[in-house]
Amino acid sequence: MSAARETKALTPFEIAARKGKTPLVCLTAYTTPVARLVDAHADIVLVGDSVGMVLHGLPSTLGVTMEMMILHGKAVRRGLDRALMVVDMPFGSYEESPKQAFRNAARLMAETNCAAVKLEGGEPMAETIRFLAARGIPVMAHIGLTPQAVNALGGYRIQGRGADAERIRSDSRAVADAGAFAVVMEKVPEDLARRLTGELAVPTIGIGASPACDGQILVIDDMLGLFGDFRPKFVKRYAELGAAASAAIATYAQEVRERRFPASEHVFGDAPKALPGEIIA
Ligand code: KIV
Repeated sequence: MSAARETKALTPFEIAARKGKTPLVCLTAYTTPVARLVDAHADIVLVGDSVGMVLHGLPSTLGVTMEMMILHGKAVRRGLDRALMVVDMPFGSYEESPKQAFRNAARLMAETNCAAVKLEGGEPMAETIRFLAARGIPVMAHIGLTPQAVNALGGYRIQGRGADAERIRSDSRAVADAGAFAVVMEKVPEDLARRLTGELAVPTIGIGASPACDGQILVIDDMLGLFGDFRPKFVKRYAELGAAASAAIATYAQEVRERRFPASEHVFGDAPKALPGEIIA
């Protein structure tokens, strides 16, 4: 029997044990080269269903399919060595019943080789999270603003203000009690995020939920300045790669039109010329 490849990837258990310690660094990725870049720095890489909006131009995450998540999950897998890989369960793949959720989560794990799945929803999803966790599927929960429920929530607005805080609190307790190894909290006020982070035994991972959380997650295309359709207040743009790419493309177009590209160094002569130390076959 051949020995299985030794893996040094972080496990859901190790992520859960980081509660209250050095903040967890989490980012999304959807392709192999970006996964490689992120793997060098992040603890968790999420193949988020945000892929539908940032790479496929969909108006929301509602049109994302299992096939899309599997395709991008396989690509990301090839780029990761160290980070924990989590794949989002797309809208419609888990809400019907715990059995439906198990079937699709098991498929995501088998086909992408991810170590955990993420699903959206609080108390109503607790039974499903318990069902999956008890059957060997580590689950990262996602509460607060849950983009798959954009129509029911009436938009992408902040959740848990005033009296609504108790609903988010019940959600957080329900998913943690059900066995989620970490809880993503999206767009909730700072005081609430701090309170829930203090109450839960598992790490909270904030997106628009203040530095009080045990970790942070952002959509990679947002923080690199590649996705410009909207700019939520909680996104810090660490680079402006969209603007840089646009300038590069404009320069290329101009040089082609003016016959300045390709230049002599990009052109093949008739007789091969060897560079110092190079052997031409
Ligand atoms: O789909 C996604 O990218 C997410 C993160 C924003 C948490 O769910």
